[in-house]
Amino acid sequence: MVVVQNRITAPAAVAERIEHGFSQPGNLREQPGFISFKLLKATQVSGLDEDEVLYVASTEWETMEAYETWRSGDAFARAHGGGGQGPMRATLEVFEVKVAR
Ligand code: HEM
Repeated sequence: MVVVQNRITAPAAVAERIEHGFSQPGNLREQPGFISFKLLKATQVSGLDEDEVLYVASTEWETMEAYETWRSGDAFARAHGGGGQGPMRATLEVFEVKVAR
């Protein structure tokens, strides 16, 4: 299993727009090898300006190939084609799962 997280820092002024964008139903559930998706909003984080927000789009996939197939396909492009991404900084983190309970 792999966990792929996209960390998005943005001005608080666009928080509502980000949440609205993520709340649109995509078709992640139909992607082969997809396990789960959560949009996390940080409630405490050091080093973040008061007028900024941090979101983590956290996904779980059965294999790296499954993630990469989604990432390079039309479903990803459609989910990111709305022009709603505005003034955000994004950092991608890819993890392999070592221990799970
Ligand atoms: C510059 C890079 C990225 C930015 C700024 C970004 C931002 C966003 C935003 C704002 C949305 C909501 C839809 C919209 O308003 O357009 C979204 C959807 C999403 N993003 Fe990203 N994203 C980026 C890349 C990635 C990457 C590399 C991943 C990999 C984990 C990812 C995971 C997701 C997922 C899972 C959704 C929901 C898609 C669905 O339900 O079908 N994003 N992203």
